[in-house]
Amino acid sequence: MKIDAVTIFPDYFAPLKLSLLGKAANAGLVNFEIHDLRKHATNVHNQVDDTPYGGGAGMVMMPEVWGQALDELMEPETDLIILTPAGKRFDQSMAQEYSKASHLVFACGRYEGIDDRVRQHYLNKGFRVHEVSIGDYVLGGGEVASLVMIESITRLIPGVLGNPDSLAEESHNEEGYLEYPNYTKPAIWRDISVPEILLSGNHGEIAKWRATQAIERANKNL
Ligand code: ADE
Repeated sequence: MKIDAVTIFPDYFAPLKLSLLGKAANAGLVNFEIHDLRKHATNVHNQVDDTPYGGGAGMVMMPEVWGQALDELMEPETDLIILTPAGKRFDQSMAQEYSKASHLVFACGRYEGIDDRVRQHYLNKGFRVHEVSIGDYVLGGGEVASLVMIESITRLIPGVLGNPDSLAEESHNEEGYLEYPNYTKPAIWRDISVPEILLSGNHGEIAKWRATQAIERANKNL
């Protein structure tokens, strides 16, 4: 999979070199490329934003700068993802869908967002365009939101996780359950014992116990 991100802060994407994502890139399973939006600024001040038509606080990112940056990246098979708190709420099933894509472009807006004509233009040209939010809170920009999406999508690409069983177990979670609590050695830590059942070796009973725990946990977090 090819993943491009367009941003005025390329340094935000340093974590793509680390851990799971870095390994996936080194193994050639995914190809990340980060693009500096300012390269496409059209005036001497490298300006990328301007005051909103109609008035109001804040600044809006200019369409021409975005148009030039995205024209260089968009291909017929591209899914363009525009990060905005007003977008569709990202969840595990969307991560699954995007993990099957061949090319994702993340447009990281800042300030009051990107002039809406950018979205309209690429839609009018027949591209797949998605406005996505990672949650009901407002971030300083789309960079952190993109990283959240990129990590959750990349780990679902076949071959990225060392142990594919972890993904199989997780499929339950996509149906709305959270994970059960986990324990490792030692069996007693600061007077707290690991639940007896996990030491029993009875896989059927362990599976039942875990399912109940997962449901209890999910209910608690409602
Ligand atoms: N930009 C600012 N807040 C955001 C959010 N919650 N999700 C995605 N992009 C954003």
